[in-house]
Amino acid sequence: MGFVVAVDGPAGSGKGTVTKEIAKRTNLINVDTGAMYRSVTLECINNDISSTDLEKIKQILENIDIQLIRKDGNQIVLLNGKDVTKEIRTPKVDSEVAKFAAIKEIRDKVTPIQQKMGEDLDIIMEGRDIGTVVFPNADVKIFLDCSVEERARRRYKQNQEKGINISYEEVLESIIKRHILETTREVAPLVQPKDAKYIDSTNMSIEEVVNTIVEIINAKKLEIEK
Ligand code: DC
Repeated sequence: MGFVVAVDGPAGSGKGTVTKEIAKRTNLINVDTGAMYRSVTLECINNDISSTDLEKIKQILENIDIQLIRKDGNQIVLLNGKDVTKEIRTPKVDSEVAKFAAIKEIRDKVTPIQQKMGEDLDIIMEGRDIGTVVFPNADVKIFLDCSVEERARRRYKQNQEKGINISYEEVLESIIKRHILETTREVAPLVQPKDAKYIDSTNMSIEEVVNTIVEIINAKKLEIEK
């Protein structure tokens, strides 16, 4: 297995932003696993399949091809060969994805693809179940937390920057709904792995979170080299 850093935490805790920066500073390849659940969700939306129609979802899963590739240091998502990197971030996918990500058959399809990436690459992988299910033996486990209000503020700001006009209250409501779904679902719920380092980013800058995690990674690398 390569060197694996698992970063878990709720939506809007800053995982995406900090793991990208950490990847640059540590030469690890960053993998955003949420993109895979978003891709399956997009494929189902495009085919008018609801999250309750398990038979149709299974058919979709038989033929679906999701690839995460690198381009200029960024992750590009290919769904059946088509670049959907932007399309998987629309409000429609945002509001549907938690329901699809709770489906065991979808997780059973996606998890082995993620595990394969850590077989021979040195990676920093972010998601909800990376330290608990995907890589229970990860070299470093981080649980990045943040208050719901701050998470909603961050997502609201991101939306504004992208020209997506949704009120703060609506964003907050959707974050709370998503959080309840993710932490209470039966399969691979978002929980802090016992052996993870807990970081609360509510009052921390991106730089502070990045520095804290890079220090943890470097300390682990030194320990392994000894
Ligand atoms: O991190 P994100 O918002 O892009 O994640 C999209 C959805 O996928 C979200 O509902 C959580 C879910 N997810 C998951 O269940 N397990 C992962 N490893 C990553 C994401």
